Order: sequence, then structure tokens, then C-alpha cells
Amino acid sequence: MADKPIIFVLNGPNLNLLGTREPEIYGTDTLDDIAGHLDDRARAAGASIDFRQSNHEGHLVDWLQEAQAVGARAVLLNAAGYTHTSVAILDAIKAINVPVFEVHLSDPHKREAFRHLSYVSMGAKAVFAGHGAKSYELALDAALQF
Ligand code: DQA
Repeated sequence: MADKPIIFVLNGPNLNLLGTREPEIYGTDTLDDIAGHLDDRARAAGASIDFRQSNHEGHLVDWLQEAQAVGARAVLLNAAGYTHTSVAILDAIKAINVPVFEVHLSDPHKREAFRHLSYVSMGAKAVFAGHGAKSYELALDAALQF
């Protein structure tokens, strides 16, 4: 039997503060809540998730490379503020053969103009945004079908 697919779920800066961070924009679920729901959903589909958060850009680059090294099926990536600034993260997405699905709780296109540019989108297979914590679940479903 084939190994259980592993989906990396990578979260960028300030997402560790979900629950109390601008709840009117990001909702009241904590990152642990999101991880728990996603874990249940992945298990039900016969997959597993590796859920991580860092406030440091280079960690996200290292983890994207690691996703390839360990043969992850897909990556869900909420690069948070680095979405709009990071050429290094875009380069990492393009350097690996693992499909990356971009996730956002809010819809950056309905917010400030500086959030309308996404470097992550230039390398991602699809974008799931504006559905709060559910954006992650929609992205997981897409990743499992990919
Ligand atoms: C975010 C949107 C980004 O613009 C912002 O910098 C974040 C969170 C989201 O999930 O809605 O930190 O990625």
C-alpha cells in the first residue's frame, strides 16, 4: 500500500497570534484550532498534515525545500505579510516540484492596495482566501484531489 500522503501546512509571521490578532479581520479561531480541524479532515481522507508556523522568512524557505525532500504531496502556505514582499519564498515555490496552494483568512484583494500584490500567487497552483479558517479546509480538499 502507498504511504499516507503528507501535506505540509506552513504559516508565516503573526499567525501565532490568531484568536486575539485583529479578530474583526481574522476571526477568533486560534492557530491551534485551525490545526486541529485540519488534522481531523486530513485523517478522514487518509492523509496527514505537518502544521508549522514561523515569524522568520528563512524558516518558510527551509520548510518548502523540506517538503520536497520528504516527498510531501502538497503544501498549504499562508505566508502572511511575506506574501506581499518575498521573492525568496516565490523562488522556493518555483524550485520545488511540490504543488503549493496559497491560503489567506482574509481576502487581500478587498484590503489595502499593498496587499493586492502576491509573490506567492505567481508560483501557487490556486489561491483560497476570504473564508476565514475555512480557507485552509478548502485548500486541503483541493490539495488532496490534485
Ligand atoms: C493574511 C493576509 C496578509 O495580507 C496579512 O499580512 C496576514 C494574514 C491572511 O491570512 O488573511 O498576516 O495572510
